Amino acid sequence: GRTWTDVGELCAEMKGETVLIRGAAQAIRSTSKKIVFLVVRQGMSTVQCVLVVTKDIISPQMVCFASSLTKESIVDVEGVISVPGMLITGATQQVEIQVRKLYCINRAVPNLPFNIEDASRSETEFKEAEESGEQLVRVGQDTRLNNRGIDLRTPTNQAIFRVKSEGVNELRRVLLLKKFVEIFTPKVIAGSSEGGAEVFKLEYKGKPACLAQSPQLHKQMAICGGFGRVFEVGPVFRAENSYTHRHLCEFVGLDVEMEIKEHYDEVCDIVEELFMAIFDHLNNNCSKELEVIKRQYPFQPIKYLPKRLTYDEGVQMLKEAGVEIEPMGDLNTEAEKKLGKLVSDKYNTDFFILTKFPLRIRPFYTMPCYDNSEYSNSFDVFLRGEEIISGAQRIHDPEMLTKRAEQCGIDVKTISTYIDSFRYGAPPHGGFGAGLERVVMLFCGLNNIRKCSLFPRDPQRLTP
Ligand code: 4AD
Repeated sequence: GRTWTDVGELCAEMKGETVLIRGAAQAIRSTSKKIVFLVVRQGMSTVQCVLVVTKDIISPQMVCFASSLTKESIVDVEGVISVPGMLITGATQQVEIQVRKLYCINRAVPNLPFNIEDASRSETEFKEAEESGEQLVRVGQDTRLNNRGIDLRTPTNQAIFRVKSEGVNELRRVLLLKKFVEIFTPKVIAGSSEGGAEVFKLEYKGKPACLAQSPQLHKQMAICGGFGRVFEVGPVFRAENSYTHRHLCEFVGLDVEMEIKEHYDEVCDIVEELFMAIFDHLNNNCSKELEVIKRQYPFQPIKYLPKRLTYDEGVQMLKEAGVEIEPMGDLNTEAEKKLGKLVSDKYNTDFFILTKFPLRIRPFYTMPCYDNSEYSNSFDVFLRGEEIISGAQRIHDPEMLTKRAEQCGIDVKTISTYIDSFRYGAPPHGGFGAGLERVVMLFCGLNNIRKCSLFPRDPQRLTP
């Protein structure tokens, strides 16, 4: 076979070498019949390729053929690397390919829904263009998502999904090292796993069923099953009615569950170790991706240090800043943002754990505090003032669990096998669930969770 070179690896040291690449023809620019510039893209990288009419090497017909290529057609380019004084096309690689051979492998239709270059511009570029009287095409989010197959090709999207992949890789590495077992729980289940109305109902061979709102019940049953420490990376379904920047109807849940020896702090310890490692990993291994994202959507890197506060301390900080919370109530989006800002200013971190929430605002399976049952052994984790994780110690006593489920209005019959799992000897345990798209969105300072979902599902979107 022939040797193929990655566009991202093309560099000045290769000057004079003949290379062969395959990519998409992102732009085709011709100012005369004798010369044509192609920008060929592969992943996050682009390279400028030039064809100049040259006796016995490049015929006028070949230049004509190159000029007639449609944008996004897949091309094979063979040519010699050179280092031009100036790149006219703004390609990422600082070299040029003097084309010798050019093949069109697959021709794209001429009327694309939008150009990748148009979908890759930053707000600054729009502003600059406006000032100079130039008209740039804006590509709206719905147009992009309706045509996600092509939208995913922008360098920024290529970068976002590589960051997402690296984040999960690091999560797996750290948890496996800490002796967690990766599990795969069912997604079609008999009763709702989190309670509430946010559940997709379906029929399972004539019986009522739903799509799992989380692996909650089954990851706990895996702990009853003797695995000690488990985790899962898998789809989570929420029939959310909220059409917001941070809610999806299907997202990737990162779920962890573990035996607790003495205190639910042990779960918070894992949260901190895990997320410090993930953030370090992304900063150290995805610097190119983060630069690409930042170019289109500028953001400040997160500051992250382990920091824990109780709910009461958080509420007190808000009070002192003039923000009142309903007594023993949930923090609304605005209060969360405000608290994030206060903690960031005071403790120099955009990441923190808020512990010991009032019991009444937590799910039925949450363990009340031993010394004050108004509160619970629970926590939420915030990044840039938005929730990325919720977790808790769980009730492992079947009678107490039944009582709490009833108090929370859950039909106990639908979860009887779950409750029964605790009748045969169940260790104290706890865990947490994170939303992968939320983590990526906030780590990269993005303004919409849909940017972090390959094919987002929200209340209005079921395709593509
Ligand atoms: O807070 P949630 O609903 O908690 C649970 O599912 C528990 N079973 C977790 C546990 O182990 N105790 O969801 C956990 C995380 C949230 O913190 C958030 O990051 C994300 O999942 N999440 C969503 N992400 C996108 N779209 C939605 N609609 C989300 N709902 C929750």
